[in-house]
Amino acid sequence: MTELAPHAAPHTKGILLSGGSGTRLYPMTQAASKQLLPVYDKPMIFYPLSTLILAGIREIMIITTPTDMPQFQRLLGDGSAFGVEFTYRVQQCPEGIAQAFLIAEDWLKGSHCALALGDNLIFADRLEFMLLNATRRQRGATVFSYQVRDPERYGVVTFDEQGKALDIVEKPEEPESNWAVTGLYFYDDRVCEMAHKVTPSPRGELEITDLNRMYLAEGTLHVDHLDRGCAWLDAGTPDSLMQAGTFVQAIQSRQGLLVGSPTEAAFRMGFLSAEKLRERGQSMAKTELGRMLLNVAEGNKRPLKRKKS
Ligand code: G1P
Repeated sequence: MTELAPHAAPHTKGILLSGGSGTRLYPMTQAASKQLLPVYDKPMIFYPLSTLILAGIREIMIITTPTDMPQFQRLLGDGSAFGVEFTYRVQQCPEGIAQAFLIAEDWLKGSHCALALGDNLIFADRLEFMLLNATRRQRGATVFSYQVRDPERYGVVTFDEQGKALDIVEKPEEPESNWAVTGLYFYDDRVCEMAHKVTPSPRGELEITDLNRMYLAEGTLHVDHLDRGCAWLDAGTPDSLMQAGTFVQAIQSRQGLLVGSPTEAAFRMGFLSAEKLRERGQSMAKTELGRMLLNVAEGNKRPLKRKKS
């Protein structure tokens, strides 16, 4: 088991990257942003937003395309509904994930930063502990790896026999391991300086993998495993979108527990009062989601019985 880093967490801001044209989901994404598509009962972006909130992050920049920005603002507002503060910025052209740090540089003002990709969903029993551990690290970067059947779709990390990370390769044709790097990254206060050194890859993008390799080369990249009790889903194709929705539905209806609710996460983190949570639940009282929020606000630990429909 990973030891909890012994210091108080340095101030960490968060970036939610929701750009891209979502071409693998056409025609669904021809008129709507991928990250606003539903994953069961919530817009996709709620899931990575919940993850950032569970990491204790309250200042969050949402980076999106010029056309999609108004819809994100309509959905999420200034953040007060979740007890956080949103800043919106535009990524004019999708020129790579690492570009986020160049876009956010003046806002980050040298703080530590967590970056979450808007189409990545992580569910884990000990997620808050893992996130806390990552935010507490004073120096270096933290990424999370997860075993998948199709590593060639992702950044792939290889390890030596002691489990030390040796290399990360972006979408290798012949992957040397099954360990994919997920779309959740934590960086220290040097991240913008490092991002400036990343040069465009053959596909013309500032690759997040190249940034991670810089930390790896200086020996400060921590690769934490998401083990088999965890689920990591990316909802970037019709199949994975459907799987993610079915997964959330199965957990919520079987256990009566909420998955990927930023409102509930904010309440758990002490960012929202029970009263605010109740108001939010009441505003959606016609939905199962609203009833579940009301149940949490009432301090009812027992899972909800579903209404017969
Ligand atoms: C990106 C990263 C890749 C990472 C993946 C996680 O891939 O480049 O390293 O494994 O996110 O979702 P992309 O979304 O560009 O295919």
